[in-house]
Amino acid sequence: MAKRRSAAWFGRQDIYGFIYRSWVKNRGVPQDQFDGRPVIGICNTWSELTPCNTHFRVLAEHVRYGVLEAGGFPLEFPVMSLGETLLRPTAMLYRNLASMDVEESIRGNPLDGVVLLMGCDKTTPSLIMGAASVDLPTIGVSGGPMLSGKYHGKDIGSGTNVWSMSEELRAGKLTLHEFHEAESCMHRSHGHCMTMGTASTMASMVEALGVGLPGNAAFPAVDARRNVLARMAGRRIVEMVNENLVLSKILTKEAFENAIRALSAIGGSTNAVIHLLAIARRVGVELTLDDFDRLGRGVHTLVDLMPSGEYLMEDFCYAGGLPAVLRELEDLLNKDALTANGKTMWENVKDAPCYNRKVITPFAKPFKENTGIAVLRGNLCPDGAIIKPSAATPQLMRHRGRAVVFENIEDFHRRIDDPKLDIDESCVMVLKNCGPKGYPGMAEVGNMPLPPKVLKKGITDMVRISDARMSGTAYGTVVLHISPEAAAGGALALVQNGDMIELDVSKRILRLDVSDQELKDRKARWTPPKPPLERGYWKLYHDHVLQAHEGADFDFLVGKSGAFVPRDNH
Ligand code: FES
Repeated sequence: MAKRRSAAWFGRQDIYGFIYRSWVKNRGVPQDQFDGRPVIGICNTWSELTPCNTHFRVLAEHVRYGVLEAGGFPLEFPVMSLGETLLRPTAMLYRNLASMDVEESIRGNPLDGVVLLMGCDKTTPSLIMGAASVDLPTIGVSGGPMLSGKYHGKDIGSGTNVWSMSEELRAGKLTLHEFHEAESCMHRSHGHCMTMGTASTMASMVEALGVGLPGNAAFPAVDARRNVLARMAGRRIVEMVNENLVLSKILTKEAFENAIRALSAIGGSTNAVIHLLAIARRVGVELTLDDFDRLGRGVHTLVDLMPSGEYLMEDFCYAGGLPAVLRELEDLLNKDALTANGKTMWENVKDAPCYNRKVITPFAKPFKENTGIAVLRGNLCPDGAIIKPSAATPQLMRHRGRAVVFENIEDFHRRIDDPKLDIDESCVMVLKNCGPKGYPGMAEVGNMPLPPKVLKKGITDMVRISDARMSGTAYGTVVLHISPEAAAGGALALVQNGDMIELDVSKRILRLDVSDQELKDRKARWTPPKPPLERGYWKLYHDHVLQAHEGADFDFLVGKSGAFVPRDNH
């Protein structure tokens, strides 16, 4: 048997071996735990500031049971946790920072394998990115979605109904008392958002990539099977260490292709595009924005879940969960892609049952047809922009309209409710300076609320374009991730009120109807906006963040350094 990585710490019989072991023994660890058995890190994002992950102490205990049962030695450790709802200016600003915490915590410690506990949106990509750059045997365990929201006898979904209810409050159709009541009814158990928002999407990506066990995406957080899954992951990671099944053997190009097809089939969050690009670049898999367009073509949305549809993650679980969806993708899957349980993707899903065809439709009779994420190009977005057709209004997918420009999010908030704002439903709302550098952190503000004067007419959607992201629980004809962003000098920075903008999703075009010479003249007069903070992490972020089409990772984090530490600690 090859010498374990942890033996460089715990296997030493000298003063340093004494130091490494003795301090760990201070909580009652017996000597036999240092006999060369696999040391398993349980990487925990528990935090009361991340409400979606507050059950992770319990989840970690179940992983611990599994590791012990399989003969491993579990050591739990915390990493920076990113709570989507509380963290300002946006959790995405800190995704790369958290990934650095994860990477260095794994590499610097005596670990042979890692279990990643992930839940709220950014806790999934940050942990996988960090772990991918170390490349030990790694298994992902998602925290699971909350139970369905229930309000006045109806299902309500995280985020999705927040948007509609806040619009109803603004339009005077909902009282403040009802609004507060809905808050209590929407999030009534442990877990992450229970729509097919970013957290559920990323949990599905963990499963579709093969990094998690089958069933990872859908078991509710409070379902006992979630704890069983955690325990099985604890058992399995010990075997993975013995098999030297490192993360890069799972995160292959084929695995990403499966994930991208699954993303379309679940009508998943546009945020997954950025995260999958960033993860792929960590392991050296060549993945581009165009792969999303190419692989998504001809894939249908099979899952009728909010925000694209009607049901919630609890229903998805009872209908069969992601394995039932992957089975429907049979001819499109890379069937031989290896997964964490040692089986191929197809071995895992080929017999997966579906118990509710309203929630998970057959591929031959899909919920929505041809709904892969579309990648747009044109003089407004030479490096790309994306739109999620399944969340958009079909009539607006081909549209030409007059630009109404907001220079930044503060400008938008200041003017959107103004009855004198020169706007109607045929206009294109343009938001600048909300990209990676511009916000900073690429906030989820791309789905701008419509102006009240338009809402009052009963209009519910308009074309909106920006360099921002959109919450996975939001919907609308919203063009996102325009690259290069305005703050980096992209053409978006040069759009003026009254310019005509053309969107044609079927032709993959987003164009500003302004001559090249005029754009050149405007660029000559353009000055970059000053970053809001010019020290500390914000400065590091501003100086090193890549654009959306490159995954918005830091330039110096792309790739991996492996598990080797070039210096001892004495
Ligand atoms: Fe945590 Fe939605 S706020 S998953």
